[in-house]
Amino acid sequence: MTTAHSASGSAALPTLAAAMARHEPIVMLTAYDYPSARVAVEAGVDVVLVGDSAAMTVLGYTTTRDIAVDELLMLTRAVRRAVRGVPVIGDLPFGSYEHGDDEAVGTARRFVDEGGCDAVKLEGAGPMVSRVKAIVAVGIPVVGHVGLLPQSVITAEGYRSKGRDAVQALGIIADAEALAQAGCAALVVEAVPAEIAALLAARVSIPVIGIGAGVGTHGQVLVYHDLLGLGEGKLARFVRQYARGHADQVEAVKRWAEDVRTRRYPSEAEGYGVSAEVLAEVKKKLAEG
Ligand code: KIV
Repeated sequence: MTTAHSASGSAALPTLAAAMARHEPIVMLTAYDYPSARVAVEAGVDVVLVGDSAAMTVLGYTTTRDIAVDELLMLTRAVRRAVRGVPVIGDLPFGSYEHGDDEAVGTARRFVDEGGCDAVKLEGAGPMVSRVKAIVAVGIPVVGHVGLLPQSVITAEGYRSKGRDAVQALGIIADAEALAQAGCAALVVEAVPAEIAALLAARVSIPVIGIGAGVGTHGQVLVYHDLLGLGEGKLARFVRQYARGHADQVEAVKRWAEDVRTRRYPSEAEGYGVSAEVLAEVKKKLAEG
């Protein structure tokens, strides 16, 4: 028998709840600055996540654990300035919410008050269930995150799929149910077999957004830089690249550099003119010393 679990959460992000009710797949994309957020909105995504993946994608750190609250808040404000009419979710950085409910509420408030977020996301269950309840209790919607938890990964080799044995799969589903019951408005499930993610999605009555979790969830999320080919390293198997952003940009800059070196840039039309009289006067004054 399947049981649906949720508290008041599902109504807290109405756009997502409505899409789920209409059985329409939800499109979530990360964004980290004004231009990426403008692209996401103009392309018509349903929800923007200012992911702590910004640590690697835009700040050059090795793991998501390295980004500080103030760094992610600055990026979040830039995204907020670009986005109207679409919910913006802020990721709570590693070390900013795990130690106690007061800390979690304090950081969540900063993402709402200073970052302009409509909701916050945090990773894990267990003790995090209490953090979710505390944040929801002050009126801030929370998105949970189960399966692969990037903030628990210390080295690049640690990015491995989860829930491939029965004990782990049941644990992930139980975590999802606990988070839904605690009042989460939605869940992200990362790098979990499609069948397990589908079972999970059927057991909670809040939207479940998958990343590397198959087609049986209520929606999908990808990292902006992965989708557009803006990064350099090895990609996870679930990433489908729709552009060669990095390679195309390198090529464009190379062509410009070549034009500079061969004096093909700038052309006359790419500069400003001055009248013959003004030029003559300037030259005369210079000659007079
Ligand atoms: O930070 C992030 O980009 C995320 C996604 C992987 C969902 O949490």
